[in-house]
Amino acid sequence: MADGSSETKSSNQMWGGRFASGPDAIMEEINASIGFDKKLYAQDIRGSIAHATMLAHQGIISAEDKDKIVHGLDTILSEIDSGAFEFSRRLEDIHMNIEARLAALIGPAAGRLHTARSRNDQVALDFRLWVKEELQKTEKALTGLIAAFLDRAEEHADTVMPGFTHLQTAQPVTFGHHCMAYVEMFGRDRARVRHAIEHMDESPIGAAALAGTGFPIDRHMTAKALGFREPTRNSIDTVSDRDFALEFLSVAAIAATHLSRLAEEIVIWSTPQFGFIRLSDAFSTGSSIMPQKKNPDAAELVRAKTGRVNGSLVALLTVMKGLPLAYSKDMQEDKEQVFDAAESLELAIAAMTGMIRDVTIRADRMKAAAGSGYSTATDLADWLVREAGLPFRDAHHVTGRVVALAEQKGCDLADLPLAELQAINSAITDKVYGVLTVEASVASRTSFGGTAPSEVRKQIAWWRARN
Ligand code: ARG
Repeated sequence: MADGSSETKSSNQMWGGRFASGPDAIMEEINASIGFDKKLYAQDIRGSIAHATMLAHQGIISAEDKDKIVHGLDTILSEIDSGAFEFSRRLEDIHMNIEARLAALIGPAAGRLHTARSRNDQVALDFRLWVKEELQKTEKALTGLIAAFLDRAEEHADTVMPGFTHLQTAQPVTFGHHCMAYVEMFGRDRARVRHAIEHMDESPIGAAALAGTGFPIDRHMTAKALGFREPTRNSIDTVSDRDFALEFLSVAAIAATHLSRLAEEIVIWSTPQFGFIRLSDAFSTGSSIMPQKKNPDAAELVRAKTGRVNGSLVALLTVMKGLPLAYSKDMQEDKEQVFDAAESLELAIAAMTGMIRDVTIRADRMKAAAGSGYSTATDLADWLVREAGLPFRDAHHVTGRVVALAEQKGCDLADLPLAELQAINSAITDKVYGVLTVEASVASRTSFGGTAPSEVRKQIAWWRARN
């Protein structure tokens, strides 16, 4: 490419007509985005081919020039794909790098490609196409993660574990039910991804710099060719809008936050103290000094990457909040945030899907923990309401006294002799022992969305039909 150092002080060949000299080195450094926006090359070329094809169809450029342009762009695509393309910082960004190369390949016809177009609508198009593809990848990845959870939930629909509030033992639940909580979370994330795709499915190309163009372009034609539902409706909004990037980051931040909560549970559950799960060798590491250790590094890194994703959302919101309409160069700072968040999220979902598929569930440890901490105390209170006709508040009080007694004797609720229970409340009969086991407790919770294995199996079937 014509990018010799002797030319670095000459004015820009794309916009330098009114400039006597080229940019200061620092100006070039702060201005150039090619270091990161080269990622958009395939989208840029696709957009240019659609634009040139439309220009020829509308009689704005000749069919001959269009053919040269399309052929040249195809050549550039394979040059970049194969790594042969030389990117130049002097040419600022991906749009001008490609256009300059096109000029070198096909001559003056290249200069006709930018008719009725500005880099403002061009970058809005390229970036939208990229984000849309990324959202489609995210949707697929979330479907894979949900599938992994559905399999584990099915396998463990009957596996009892303690349910927690405040990370204190609350009531027995099943591991299948706990897995299905994550299915709901990631299912909502996927729904948000789908909404984001729907919102952004409008083509920006043809908005030009900000005001539209006097050339007789057909924006519906380019929208269709590029797979968008329709063109955007306001050219000013089109070049100043980055909602699609913000929506991607918002969706990503919420999904990453869910992944982080899951990562935190994996970290806690894999400790020897909890011992609910054993991580596979594939998703853990050892310690270089302590031979007994197996560390949940993958889960920890998923938890940490959430910080990056959330940070990217806040960074772009902050970039956008002070911008007057329409385009400002500030908006060039949108890309790295989105690229970084996308990479982090993709990796986090993939790592989590692998961990969930590989993890060993220690049902014996879960069950032992489920029975400790008087987790069936609510079942006793409910029994007193149902069988002895007590108002719930009174039943709560009686149960509190029973728990205090068990605590004082250092035993479980089910180990208290009937006589001692009856001394607290005479309405208690030996039937009460039937509700004090963890299995009876979970089996009884058949309310819609509850933890009973029968109910969890219904939830699994509902999701299977939608995944
Ligand atoms: N590299 C620029 C960006 O990413 C492209 C748009 C430049 N437009 C302009 N009017 N300078 O935002």
